[in-house]
Amino acid sequence: MTILIATRNAHKVQEIRQILGGNIEFLTLRDFPDAPEVSEDADTFEGNARKKAGELAAWLATEPIAKQRDVFVMADDSGLEVDALNGAPGVHSARFAASDKTKGNSPDAENNAKLLRLLKDIPLEKRTARFRCVIAFVPVRDVNKAQIFDGACAGRIQLEPHGGQGFGYDPLFVPSGFTKTFAELGESEKNKISHRAKALAQFAKMPL
Ligand code: IMP
Repeated sequence: MTILIATRNAHKVQEIRQILGGNIEFLTLRDFPDAPEVSEDADTFEGNARKKAGELAAWLATEPIAKQRDVFVMADDSGLEVDALNGAPGVHSARFAASDKTKGNSPDAENNAKLLRLLKDIPLEKRTARFRCVIAFVPVRDVNKAQIFDGACAGRIQLEPHGGQGFGYDPLFVPSGFTKTFAELGESEKNKISHRAKALAQFAKMPL
């Protein structure tokens, strides 16, 4: 079996390989420089994951690799949902600080600063939030047949950033049952409880 992981992020590939391992050949977008750029403009994580995996699988179906049996595309979309902000930043997590008219993502520090600004009058006990990750898995031989896997990690947004590891909103997020942020806990602890780990664990239960 061959899985194209719809990312250029080496971190994600490593995490997926670690959890799924086995006899799977993993490819990434770095192996397909001509792959189309898919814009993530759906209004749900699932919509974006389905769109990314579906469009890439349709493109891959026209490539020589499609002659192999058992070629799949895996795409994920993830982000942070804050209850006091009615689920924002949600699908806009990567570009939260930028205006919706600009296309690019915003630096992590700016996204974190905006989040703290919007929550400045909200006490810690009301700063409940969760990271969510949705994975879409699509066979190249039948690009309309997506399987969906969902993972969430609940926690709280802190009053100020702590810790230097990780990325994105990690310095502001303390997962439930812990006293340290994801950025203080570090990768190996985070990977045991993260939204992505939970979605991948769902995926790994599927008989391949
Ligand atoms: P994507 O799914 O890779 O597009 O991630 C979207 C955005 O959500 C990232 O740019 C981060 O801002 C945020 N995000 C997703 N997962 C995490 C995480 O594990 N830690 C911190 N931020 C995250």
